[in-house]
Amino acid sequence: MSNVHPYVGRAQPRVDGPLKVSGLARYSAEFAADDLVYAAAVPSTIAKGRIVRIDASAAQSAPGVVEILTHENRPNMPAEDEPYKADMVAVPGGPFRPLRDDRIWFSGQPAALVIADTHENARHAATLVKVEYEALTPEVDVSNARDRAYDPPEKRNGIPPPPPPRGDAEATFKGSVIRLEEEYRVSAEHHNPMELQATTVEWDDGRLVIHNKTQGVNNPKNYVCSVFGLDPEAVQVSTPFVGGAFGMALRPHYDLTLAVMAALKLKRSVRLVLTRGQMYTMGWRPDTLQTVALSAGEDGRLTSVRHEVIQATSQFEDYQEPTVNWSGLVYDCPNVTLGHKLAKVDTSTPSDMRAPGATLGMFALETAMDELSYKLKLDPLELRLKNYAEADQNDGKPFSSKELKAAYETGAERFRWSKRSPEPRSMKEGRELVGYGMATGCWEAMMQPHGASAALTADGRLEVACGTADIGTGTYTILTQIGADAFSMPIEEVTALVGDTRLPMAPVEGGSWAAASAGNAVRLACAALKEELVKRARGLDDSPLANASVDHVVFRDGRIALASDENVAVSYAKLLGAAEGGRIEAMAKFAPDKEFAEKFSSYTHSAVFAEVRVDEELGVVRVERIVSAIAAGKILNLATARSQILGGVVMGIGMALHEETKWDKRLGRIVNANLGEYHVPAHADVKNIDVIFVDEEDDANPLGVKGLGEIGIVGAAAAIGNAVFHATGRRVRHLPITIDKLL
Ligand code: MOS
Repeated sequence: MSNVHPYVGRAQPRVDGPLKVSGLARYSAEFAADDLVYAAAVPSTIAKGRIVRIDASAAQSAPGVVEILTHENRPNMPAEDEPYKADMVAVPGGPFRPLRDDRIWFSGQPAALVIADTHENARHAATLVKVEYEALTPEVDVSNARDRAYDPPEKRNGIPPPPPPRGDAEATFKGSVIRLEEEYRVSAEHHNPMELQATTVEWDDGRLVIHNKTQGVNNPKNYVCSVFGLDPEAVQVSTPFVGGAFGMALRPHYDLTLAVMAALKLKRSVRLVLTRGQMYTMGWRPDTLQTVALSAGEDGRLTSVRHEVIQATSQFEDYQEPTVNWSGLVYDCPNVTLGHKLAKVDTSTPSDMRAPGATLGMFALETAMDELSYKLKLDPLELRLKNYAEADQNDGKPFSSKELKAAYETGAERFRWSKRSPEPRSMKEGRELVGYGMATGCWEAMMQPHGASAALTADGRLEVACGTADIGTGTYTILTQIGADAFSMPIEEVTALVGDTRLPMAPVEGGSWAAASAGNAVRLACAALKEELVKRARGLDDSPLANASVDHVVFRDGRIALASDENVAVSYAKLLGAAEGGRIEAMAKFAPDKEFAEKFSSYTHSAVFAEVRVDEELGVVRVERIVSAIAAGKILNLATARSQILGGVVMGIGMALHEETKWDKRLGRIVNANLGEYHVPAHADVKNIDVIFVDEEDDANPLGVKGLGEIGIVGAAAAIGNAVFHATGRRVRHLPITIDKLL
């Protein structure tokens, strides 16, 4: 890349790309230590009940076994719940505590931990541990638990409950001629990132360096310090790379607790890597039953919206996500009732999974809107435009920006939506039915308080740093771009550091807030470093910049120069020579503008258009092309931003057509806990995806960034389902749309 500013806004290749493709990027299971031993978890074969007896004798005498931990011999840990609340994104209830007692809450729950000299010996010995259980009959199907649905606790770490009703949706619906009420269901999905959940604990005479797959190093650090009563000074979490997380690594998992437990017991380094099958014993997108009732006038204007959900959670926690709230703000409607209930099943606790809530809720709403368009004999896009919301009616605030109309227009034009013939089954090519469908997507544009540092280092490079995580989204790259622009430096001379508790304080990376939060924090840190450099330049003996201020100088070519006469300058080398340790550093804290947030609502939006081809004889659906037009404020990096949307759309294809966690309902056990039988989209399932970013200016933060990690998936499944209806005349309200549902 040539040295052309600004870097921000360009399609800048990933700065960490070469490390990743050459294998030099090190992940949590790849850190080594001389005294390393390997742990393997023994999964429970029942889903509900208790452990009666554990016979570890055969495992104990297997080759290489160092230790076997169970609830009977594990080291003492704080018995109360409170320390476990150190998880910044904990949900109400008591978190899962591995090896706490004899109770079994879900199938695959670790019943014992085997530690051996090699990974293979640990895995082998784990199969030799005999556990006797007293089994109870589990319930894993949320539709059987719907009678026991309950109102969730009021609040969950800032996840807003549904807003109160407005108008009278019930009476309006009853008095309407044009109306529909349907139930929509999305089967449970499990996370399948490439990187397995893993922890390596390096033991250094009581000091722990922990490499844990996480979306925020401070979360596992605080967690283990409180759970094990450790001195924060003696614990460092360092996770420079994460191989995909999508929400599953927001909360600490049992690999962390068990690896630290074993390291403390053995006083040596321990690694625990979960198997792909064990990845299905944690975080998942909950099974949901949603009811959407819509009514409209002859003119196509919505007169009422009712959207209610029953969502699965575990027996021990009340996991919540904002599933129905979108239905109160995406369209203009005076009568709205929204409801959210939970139902307990005998599984692990669900978790955030890319656009938690929105993917589910918007699938139901946008499918119902499509159904309404046929009742009204109105083009589905026209129906959206007729009901376009100019303000957030959930809280009465105007949007800080909303270029959704531009997204609809640009997307429709690129897709050639006008070529769609309205009737279902009216388009055909060869032996395949052709269908066009569309949907709207919406996600909140959030920000978090965030620290960052910027430093000139002895070799004259700029180093920007903060404790966020780059889960593959491109955070390293955008922070490097922001730093390079601030100092008009070639991007090759800038280093970004993330993923370490020694770096300035950052929250977990999630909710699509990292770019806005970390990006603005780094921008502020660069500004603070400039101030610091000018201060030092002024203070030099006989300084040519004795009276300079930051507003009257330029930072370029390794020097600070007067803007009015660039021959008057002080080099960074001179300042670094005089600096202690040859390094000059400044820190900054970014805080979201509270006053702005009181006045405006901030969301990202998308318009998704899908073309499917359906072979009626075989029931096979192919997604021929998708156009996703995104309004997400300023785009920092067109290449990594496009990749985020591509990935979101691919996950949307999975949700629409493939992904489904299947339980054996008698045993409460997941039967497809592997990549062979849990189908995620493969290359053959993904054809043409066209990503468009429409211009959108937003003042919610100085960079104008809204974030786009999640918006790409929202609406994608509905657009595909709507296209399948248009192709076939068959409305499938239960995802995924598998072959059997179309034959
Ligand atoms: Mo995201 S589901 O907040 O990682």
